[in-house]
Amino acid sequence: MEIQRDPAAVRELTGRLRARGRRIGFVPTMGGLHEGHLSLMRRCRAENDVAAWSLFVNPTQFGPREDLAAYPRDAEGDMAKALAIGMDLCFAPEAGAMYPPGFQTTVEVGLLGGPLCGPSRPGHFKGVATVLCKLFHIVQPQVAYFGQKDYQQSLVVRRMVRDLDFAVEIVVLPTVREADGLALSSRNAYLDPPARQAATTLSAALRWAEAEFARGERRAAVLVDGIRRRIAAPAAVAVTIDYVEVRDAETLEPIDRLNRPAVAALAVKIGRTRLIDNALLTP
Ligand code: PAJ
Repeated sequence: MEIQRDPAAVRELTGRLRARGRRIGFVPTMGGLHEGHLSLMRRCRAENDVAAWSLFVNPTQFGPREDLAAYPRDAEGDMAKALAIGMDLCFAPEAGAMYPPGFQTTVEVGLLGGPLCGPSRPGHFKGVATVLCKLFHIVQPQVAYFGQKDYQQSLVVRRMVRDLDFAVEIVVLPTVREADGLALSSRNAYLDPPARQAATTLSAALRWAEAEFARGERRAAVLVDGIRRRIAAPAAVAVTIDYVEVRDAETLEPIDRLNRPAVAALAVKIGRTRLIDNALLTP
């Protein structure tokens, strides 16, 4: 696996590969690799001539009071995992190479960045869209792989690719979970045992909503209410709901009745760790 830190060198390399007719697949990550990331990499490896990934903890998508400094970093471990999958190319730039002095042009995200994580993470999706715009231009993939775990992000990326005419296919793959249902996340490493226990109620609440939906429940408010009530806080853990919402699965507009594809999405702070999860509710 070739490891490259220089954006210009990567663009030169991938340009040459494309000129030779190679199909390049790409998995952008911030590292802390777990089975969720690895599922995207395996798919990327299987479907392309060249399997590329990036390791970049993008500072512009973190708010001033968020966990940029503490974000789990293990570059060596990450490299070993990607190598074992057979990835060909790792792009791991320094922040200064991505955002040199004078950097000032960004991608403005529209309505899709507004609800759900939008209010509690101002500027987050703008940071995500901007770095992905740069990464797509540097790595020049024909296809890029994302996880449903970050559902709003996947919609923002799909929208950006369509609106700004990127020649990249976006593939979104299912959320990989622990045996007890907890969605894998680099941030799960922050959870102590009581918090880890409380965290299982998030996916359990979403599984309940899926079951109610399958039984015919179509009222968004009933599902939201039931999910909220199932997010439980044991005595030792502070659990704060940021949001629980059911929205249109494509536009993220609010809906009252689920007579078109919807997504149930939540963000919950367990102790100081903010976790997100979602479930698609498709008639
Ligand atoms: P990161 O959180 O490292 O996630 C990288 C990719 O892995 C994202 O597409 C995310 O949705 C996916 N992923 C995370 N947990 C997953 C799980 N449990 N199951 C399946 N896929 C999962 O998302 C980012 O990084 C950044 O915002 C990035 C896109 C790299 C831009 O900086």
